[in-house]
Amino acid sequence: MSGTNNFVVVANRLPVDLTTRPDGTEEWTPSPGGLVAALWPVLQEHQGCWVGWPGVSDIAPASFRTSEGVLLHPVKLTQADFEGFYEGFSNATLWPLYHDLIVQPTYDSDWWEVYREVNLKFADEVAEVAAEGATVWVQDYQLQLLPGILRQLRPDLKIGFFLHIPFPGADLYRQLPWREEIVRGLLGADVLGFHLPSYVSNFLELTRQVSGETGSHTGQPDELLVEGEAKIREIGATVTTADGRKVGVAAFPISIDLNAMQPPADEDVAQLRGVLGNPETVLLGVDRLDYTKGILQRLLTFEELLESGALDPAKVVLMQVATPSRERIEQYRVARSQVEEAVGRINGRFAQMGRPVVHYLHRSIPKNELRTLYAAADVMLVTAFKDGMNLVAKEYVALHGDGSGSLVLSEFAGAAVELEQAYLCNPHDLESIKRAVVTAVDALEHYPDSARERMLAMHDQVREHDVHLWASSFESSTASFSGQETAGESPR
Ligand code: ADP
Ligand code: F6P
Repeated sequence: MSGTNNFVVVANRLPVDLTTRPDGTEEWTPSPGGLVAALWPVLQEHQGCWVGWPGVSDIAPASFRTSEGVLLHPVKLTQADFEGFYEGFSNATLWPLYHDLIVQPTYDSDWWEVYREVNLKFADEVAEVAAEGATVWVQDYQLQLLPGILRQLRPDLKIGFFLHIPFPGADLYRQLPWREEIVRGLLGADVLGFHLPSYVSNFLELTRQVSGETGSHTGQPDELLVEGEAKIREIGATVTTADGRKVGVAAFPISIDLNAMQPPADEDVAQLRGVLGNPETVLLGVDRLDYTKGILQRLLTFEELLESGALDPAKVVLMQVATPSRERIEQYRVARSQVEEAVGRINGRFAQMGRPVVHYLHRSIPKNELRTLYAAADVMLVTAFKDGMNLVAKEYVALHGDGSGSLVLSEFAGAAVELEQAYLCNPHDLESIKRAVVTAVDALEHYPDSARERMLAMHDQVREHDVHLWASSFESSTASFSGQETAGESPR
């Protein structure tokens, strides 16, 4: 069984969701998250095929080609798949485990069975569309068994796997009753990519600990410099599997498509600030509404700064845009109600009639509107408890190529490794977030040269390391490891 596509991306979700308008008609709308933001420009460049779930249960529309030339191949998931695979094992077991147990994961063997079955289902779909010898990039934690299944089903394929979220320490990971199966599934790939060297080290340590099942690991990781760049390092290593294959394991920090981040017109930015009442300082948060993102902590920080007088409610506003996410899962419901209660309370305490201090949108907004928000914001707040990378931080920096603005960034977001000139904070410590916010606001007023220097340094970093560099280094690693011509060496 093989198809005609030489380049296939497979992810849990398609880049568009099939949604129903109020009048009952259907439309495709952009799906949420950083994975789609990063991969979409790469797929357009390759004119490849994207295999994924269309966002609704029990429906699989026929494959179709988008106006950008990408072939979309929907995978049908039943309501039981959605509950056991997506809401259950992916987002109530793996998600909290991989984000360092911010909430307690549930270990449920029925969910695990459905996770396996759905990974098998995705494998059949990929086998159907991928040409002989095609390159297949498997994405993220929902599909970790897929590399191993595809290796059995279609040994001709070149398989890369990329994880878009953190990989936790081995001591945490060992809680997972199915740890060996997952490691074995991942090692079906030719190359495994993670955002950060620390996630690579965590994976290698886990592989060493379960090596009885998964094969051996060859020595210490080698450190490599990314082309022309001394600051961000790839850490690469080779794992030898039980069947003697060499698997490259390395860090490839994902990024954004800078070309897609054209600044909005000055009038649009001025108009938005006008709508907000022309405050002296505009703070901004943009996230999926996820408990990992630290939105509540950000709001509590803002409230305390208003209360203490460190920020003046007559001169500052906070815009918070939160995309609805995984809304039936209990912890997401709790996170939403806590956020919305805090927004109401803060406005109740500090707003004037017709002039809220927190402007809150609980919906997805078009990319051009989002760019206007980024451009209008003096201070961007990214306060995630844990985040694999965080593309929002990079998108904000991309819109401030003139050196304006400042970024408050959690030290637990992967982006902090690259954007080290941000005002870093510990999101578990409200005092630390407060200090970072006050310093960022103060710098814009009193130390504009220093603030500008920081922003320009971060902008250079994002410009030189966009998603196209990520894609080309991942692609060349997959090509060299699948040919095994560099076997025994570090992946590049
Ligand atoms: P995650 O993948 O966990 O959602 P990232 O920060 O890496 O987090 O990526 C989020 C992506 O979703 C970014 O590209 C951002 O622009 C987009 N996004 C977040 N919130 C919204 C929103 N309300 N409307 C539109 N796009 C959004
Ligand atoms: O990168 C994390 C991620 O879970 C992606 O896998 C996913 O596409 C995105 O966030 C949005 O999550 P979901 O598909 O569960 O709405």
